[in-house]
Amino acid sequence: MLSDLFRPIRIGQMDVKNRLLMSAMSINFGVDDNCHVTDQLTEYFVARAKGGAGMMLVGGGSVHPGGQELPDLPQMYDDSCIPTLKKMVARVKAYDTCFGVQLMHGGRQSYLPEKVAPSAIPAPAVVKGEVRALEVDEIKELAACFGDSARRCREAGFDFVEIHGAHGYLINQFLAPNSNIRTDEYGGSFENRTRFLFEIMDAIREKAGEDYPVGIRINGNDYIENGWELDDTVRLAPMLEKAGAVYLHISGGVYGSTELTIPSMYTPQGCFIHLAEAVKEVVDIPVVTVGRIKDPVQADDIIKEGRADMVALGRSFLADPEYPNKAKAGQLSNIRPCVGCCLGCIHAVLAKEPGSCVVNPDVGREYKLVQAEAASKPSKVLVAGAGPSGLAAARMFALEGHEVMVCEKGESHGGLLALAATSPGRGELGDILRFFSEELDRLDVPVNYNTPLSKAVLDEFMPDQVILATGSMPDMPVIKGLFKTAMDLMTSVDVFTGQETPGRKVIVLGGGMTGLITADTLAEQGREVVVLNRKKSFAEEMSSNDRYYLRERLKKGRVKLYKNVAVKSFSDDGVAFTANGEPVVLDGFHSVVISEKHQAVRDAKKLEKKSAAEFHLIGDAKSPRHLMYCISEAEEAGRSE
Ligand SMILES: Cc1cc2nc3c(=O)[nH]c(=O)nc-3n(C[C@H](O)[C@H](O)[C@H](O)COP(=O)(O)O)c2cc1C
Ligand code: SF4
Repeated sequence: MLSDLFRPIRIGQMDVKNRLLMSAMSINFGVDDNCHVTDQLTEYFVARAKGGAGMMLVGGGSVHPGGQELPDLPQMYDDSCIPTLKKMVARVKAYDTCFGVQLMHGGRQSYLPEKVAPSAIPAPAVVKGEVRALEVDEIKELAACFGDSARRCREAGFDFVEIHGAHGYLINQFLAPNSNIRTDEYGGSFENRTRFLFEIMDAIREKAGEDYPVGIRINGNDYIENGWELDDTVRLAPMLEKAGAVYLHISGGVYGSTELTIPSMYTPQGCFIHLAEAVKEVVDIPVVTVGRIKDPVQADDIIKEGRADMVALGRSFLADPEYPNKAKAGQLSNIRPCVGCCLGCIHAVLAKEPGSCVVNPDVGREYKLVQAEAASKPSKVLVAGAGPSGLAAARMFALEGHEVMVCEKGESHGGLLALAATSPGRGELGDILRFFSEELDRLDVPVNYNTPLSKAVLDEFMPDQVILATGSMPDMPVIKGLFKTAMDLMTSVDVFTGQETPGRKVIVLGGGMTGLITADTLAEQGREVVVLNRKKSFAEEMSSNDRYYLRERLKKGRVKLYKNVAVKSFSDDGVAFTANGEPVVLDGFHSVVISEKHQAVRDAKKLEKKSAAEFHLIGDAKSPRHLMYCISEAEEAGRSE
């Protein structure tokens, strides 16, 4: 029983029904050519309001056209935005959620070619391009823009606004000494660097009204050299309280920081709680914490132990809009877990694509699903393969009312994903398998292990449809001398299944995600590892946030990475190759682990001729790809037309 997470709280003028805030996420969809919100964004929020969020924030509300963070975010900078915002608020408010907008200006972290900032210093990472230092009159105008935008939010019916003072965007750029080297009244001293933020608060009060609730998001730490630090936050927090902030939302990180704002699975859950805890000691207004909080029990403990007053969840609300309702009902294992891969969400939006979620392909499609619900025609569906694709497809067919059975040739579920989840720091990948498996139990879908698809299975079940989700296996490359070497040859799958044990010095052939996590696993076991990557970049299929932490681990494990590799030949204990055109010869090695391409396993397709059922290939069996495409394709297969 989560007794504290669902206690109501009063924040400013607002009575909030629980302690769960859906944090602002610039999701990069759901606006028209004028950046006015559409049904797509509205239904995305409706799903999450229905799901029980106490508070929710629209992310990326642009206060000025020159400060838009990404192309497809809602604009708040002229009154033409109000009618569609009003429609959205009216839809969402039916579900007893306090609904607000986060107001922001991207400054030097905007995607636009012309960027402004307190000083002409480009962002240290992620976005490129020259930056122009703002004139004083422009700073005053931008503060007024925040005020006007808040007034529009109030007119549209939003309950509150949050000022985005965190994550290295414009306000944070003023706060941090490394991005603000101004010598006028906006730079230098603490008082000067915080002036813009206080002017924004004044402008909001003036234009939206003294009583309009304003929360503030600031970093507890920028985690970058000469950045904003926890001492600064602790000093500023009581001043913000005095200036009328109704809550403080404490986050961390900027573009290029050592601890990322949106951390991947390698980071401990609840990584920024200590920052909020320090602020809570110095203010009386509610303090919100955020950052890889995905376990409702942890969230409840945070409130119980008084470490924060509200818990903000970002990605968990993408992965499962029903998170609060399920947590409240004690159905914790029914919550679809965010696995911290960062690929469908932040990696996509920073590539200026619409945000989505690897484990929940419905993100951004809620408006379509509303119309699609009723169209199912029950049939008998046999799913071959209990990897993520098979499990996801089976679940969706069962949810749509079909009679479903799964057959799996091995003795457990999960396929290659279950193996990947055994590598260091990637255990959370197993959470999504647990979710699907428990869903199949709940939906009474039998999963028959040690049962490869056969004529006998088809004759017994008599399916109308067969879904082949039989996965993929590593492909052996053809390289001179590889099969004649005296070194042990094995694949990553052999390593992860424990079928083969490499020697002390190992060559991993392949610098994709599988190659790198294999190298990490072997390095953690104390082996000396080199990775040979034919491509010019490593693990392109991973999100940059996830890859960042993995690369840090490989550095610590002293794994030597070679890229742009052309292998010349293998010897009995080594390999000759060029890397970036430079010749290299390595010797003294004991094992070679092949971790390059995968090939689809689809032998069972030949049974199609012996069956009246329709056969469909999905997932890796169709073509080996990232999990994200496999789950969305699997769910699509299971959905009614
Ligand atoms: C796709 C995406 C977009 C985001 N956009 C914003 C944003 O506009 N403003 C903001 O303050 N934080 C933004 N964040 C950060 C989240 O609000 C949150 O702080 C972060 O994801 C960590 O919380 P989580 O681990 O619960 O996801 C974004 C996160 C994601 C995944
Ligand atoms: S894409 Fe990955 S990190 Fe992002 S919300 Fe989905 S599961 Fe979580």
